[in-house]
Amino acid sequence: MTAPTTEAVSQPAGTVRLKEAPFTLTAAHITKSFGSRTLWGGLSFTVESGTMTAVTGPSGSGKTTLLNCIGLLEGFDAGRIGIGPWTFTGGPRHRLGGRERACQHNVLGFLFQNYGLVENWNVRRNLTVPLRHRKGLSAAARSAMIDQALERVGLPSAQHTMIYTLSRGERQRVALARLILKEPSVILADEPTSALDHSDRDLVLRTLQEQADDGAVVLIATHSDHVIEHCTRHIGLRQGETPASPRSAQSKMVPITPDTP
Ligand SMILES: Nc1ncnc2c1ncn2[C@@H]1O[C@H](COP(=O)(O)OP(=O)(O)O)[C@@H](O)[C@H]1O
Ligand SMILES: [Mg+2]
Repeated sequence: MTAPTTEAVSQPAGTVRLKEAPFTLTAAHITKSFGSRTLWGGLSFTVESGTMTAVTGPSGSGKTTLLNCIGLLEGFDAGRIGIGPWTFTGGPRHRLGGRERACQHNVLGFLFQNYGLVENWNVRRNLTVPLRHRKGLSAAARSAMIDQALERVGLPSAQHTMIYTLSRGERQRVALARLILKEPSVILADEPTSALDHSDRDLVLRTLQEQADDGAVVLIATHSDHVIEHCTRHIGLRQGETPASPRSAQSKMVPITPDTP
């Protein structure tokens, strides 16, 4: 796996619980190209903890790629991404380093379009993954936490169910339970409601709102007007253009103001 090159600017030690104080997620003039095609260039925005931000744009405008770059799953070509005290700088790719891994373990959480669950594991085994980095938890405590998270997403007693037997909505519920257990400070959700019925969609939004209320930054790539209306911030990507002035699609929304160059 590749990742951006990074500056040794700031190096938080140990487990980072960013949500204990307000923090920002910042993109400063970030650029991403595939060959001669620039997906987005000079993109800048700042979002504060405790907010839900919609990332919109036509298919192919680079929403998934933007979330992957912020999530340090993919490199970017120029600019800087700041996540609380961490700074990651775009440039030539290199191997995923210790800082990126530490940030992924401690700070970042994902809701993937394809749920990102291991299909031939049961629910319990999938939900043990986010608890791996929690020290000092007994097996009984882990099991109780998993039960509680499953209760919250309406899947009580599902610990021993195999993922491949679940519906799409149920899989997304398990992915939500994984987020609840991980309690990430930054949540990157890629069209998390696109394949769901209304009740599962509302559960996704409610759970993400709870995480934001708890102090997380939540970014949601979406085409859904319902999801966009639920968000209070908006980053609009336009196909093949430099989004110098990300817009608001809904008048009640606060558009993200580009940072001063
Ligand atoms: N690894 C890659 N190599 C080349 N092109 C890619 C790669 N990943 C994505 N793309 C292209 O970048 C564009 C944006 O993709 P994506 O971020 O998935 O957009 P969106 O999520 O807005 O639909 C698409 O045209 C896609 O084909
Ligand atoms: Mg996409």
